[in-house]
Order: sequence, then C-alpha cells, then structure tokens
Amino acid sequence: MKIAWIALAALSVGTAYAQSEPYKVFDTKPVITEGPFLSALSDTAVSVVWMTDAPSHAKVILRDGDQVREIEPQVDGLVPVGQRHVVTVTGLTPGRRYSYETVSTRVVKLKPYWPDKGLSTSSAAASFTTFNPQQERVSFSVVTDTHEDTARIGRLMKMVDWGSTDALLHLGDAFHWLDSEEQLWAKWLRPTVAGMAPGKPLLFARGNHELRGAYARQLAGYVPTPEGSYYYARTMGPVHLLVLDTAEDKPDDTNVYAQLNRTVPYRADELAWLRAHVGRSTHFAMAPFRVVAMHQGDWGWLPDNGAAWTALANQAKVDLVIAGHDHEFSYHAPDREHGYHRLILGQDQLARVEATQRELTVRVLSDKGVQVHQLRIPARH
Ligand SMILES: [Fe+2]
Repeated sequence: MKIAWIALAALSVGTAYAQSEPYKVFDTKPVITEGPFLSALSDTAVSVVWMTDAPSHAKVILRDGDQVREIEPQVDGLVPVGQRHVVTVTGLTPGRRYSYETVSTRVVKLKPYWPDKGLSTSSAAASFTTFNPQQERVSFSVVTDTHEDTARIGRLMKMVDWGSTDALLHLGDAFHWLDSEEQLWAKWLRPTVAGMAPGKPLLFARGNHELRGAYARQLAGYVPTPEGSYYYARTMGPVHLLVLDTAEDKPDDTNVYAQLNRTVPYRADELAWLRAHVGRSTHFAMAPFRVVAMHQGDWGWLPDNGAAWTALANQAKVDLVIAGHDHEFSYHAPDREHGYHRLILGQDQLARVEATQRELTVRVLSDKGVQVHQLRIPARH
C-alpha cells in the first residue's frame, strides 16, 4: 500500500528521477575520488578502500573464474552510507587470483523511510592474488618514515619492481601528526596508491607519529585490516610476517600526552596476542623465515624496556626484525641479547626482501638506486 502511494507521489513530482524503483532515484552518480586500493591482504582476506565525492553505499563484486560474489558491508545491521568506503572480503582461497570491482551507489537524502537514492559508479576491474603459505618464494618492498614528503614517496614508488613484488610494506611515520582526512590522502595515501601497481596490497605498521593529532583516532578506517587491529600476521610462502604496532616512544604519563595515552594495556594485549599466535600458528612453526616488521626497532616505549618482547622473539626464533624510526640505516647481527638480525631502514631508502625456502635476502637501496646494504640469511633448517 505504501509502495503504491509513494510511486504515485513520485510520478507527480516529474522526471528528475527514474520511476522504476519505489523510492526516488535521481539521475546523479558518485565520482570515485580516491582509490580503490587493497589494504592488508592476507591468504584469505583483504580490505578494499576508496572514497567518493558524495555520500554513497558500497559493495565489491568479486570474480573467481565463473563464480561471482557480491560483498556488501553492514554495521549493526545498517549498510554504511558515507564518502569513505571499506569493504572487507573474507573466505578467499590462498594463492588464488581474483578480479574485483567496486560499486558505489549515491544516497541523495537519508530520510527515515524512502531515502532518496542516485545511480551507481563502478571502478575499473583489477586483479589481485591472495598470499599463499605454499608458494616457493616471496618478495616484498619496504619503505618507512616518509613523513609527508610526497616527492620522496614518488621517488621510492618508482624504484619498486612491481612485476615481481608481492606487497608494499610501510613501516610507519607517514606523517608528522594527523589533522584531517585531506592530509591523510594528500600527504601519504594518494601518492602511494598512484605509485603502486593495481592489485598490489599495502601493508602498514603504525609509527609513533601516527598516534598524534586530532585525526589520529580515525587512521584505522583508512588503512584497515581484515582483523581490525594494527598488529597482524601474514603467511607469505617461506616468510611468516609479523606486523607489529610499537605505538609511542615515550611513557603514557609524559606531559605532552595530557593523560590521553594508554599504551601500556594496549601493548600488553598485543604481546598476549603475539605469544598466543607464535604458540599456535602452524605456518609460524614451519616457515623457513620469521620476520617482524615494525616501526621502532627496540619495540617502542615499554615499562620493561621491551625485555619481555625480546625474550619472546628469541624464544620464538625470530630471524629478522626490520624497522624504521631512526631515519638512517643501521644493521646489527645477532648477539648475546638478540637472537635475530636487526635491520633499520633509512628514510630515503627502499628495502627489497626476497625469500626462497633456503635463503632470505634483504637488499637496501638509496633513492638514487645505489646499494646501501645486502643481507643474506640462510634458513635455519
Ligand atoms: Fe618514528
């Protein structure tokens, strides 16, 4: 009854909108203003992120050969309507190539009943391949501390061999601090996504500067992970990658934070997760290489100065820690305190990590293409 009434009402308004739907559909399409890009791909999931110029709802169409899936998010039973879109796709098969496109449908006015809609815009189809615990080799490219320097980002992106790299890993401090959505795109994600090959994922380890500023609390919505956390593990062929969040570099009660930081319980949760993960992950146990990627190479500020983390890394037989934060390169071989190699990547450098079942290699290049360091680690078993 209501539908018929609204259809009649719609007819009486004129021709500003299509009349095949029981609600108003105006002749207006959203424009994709950022992305889409792939955030935190794993062997079974990925988060797709993009923006539109006007409020819309969103879905991803995923193709696996002849099979087509439509993934439409909901939050507390409602389809999100906004300009930033995150669609997390789960249940993927490891090592499988998928094609995807995003669909954004304009919502003109969110009325309680019969909201006014618009038309849809699709992104160009692109493909990606999920990580595969079984693959023989893996390669990923690492940058860090880009600190809002878009020319630096452009130089480093051009140095990545996109044909052979499986992922881009950013080790944090993309910003001085976070003020706004526009800054977030303009100073980091826009030039980064523009420099990346379509279908390659971005993995991100949060830096200390990303905990600062009025927009810091929104960052996770732009670099989401299927797990919903800044720390996570990835199974990538011979490498078991642990991406950690080293949070701030000073105690929570330092005056500059004005009692707004609570990293102590946060890091305790992270350590508990890490301990459980290394204890139960079969891939972690079997992988020829265990790599920790994080912002601060000394685990960040912690009440015990990181002693529990170092002990766990030693016990878990971590092979390599790769980090940033210092803005200059350094390398420390395993010693009596640390059972693992520690490589700190400089600000204007690109590290290319490659691993086979037998050997892991890290090649560090300056932004002029000059080799700064080469590290070779043989598999332990
Ligand atoms: Fe830093």
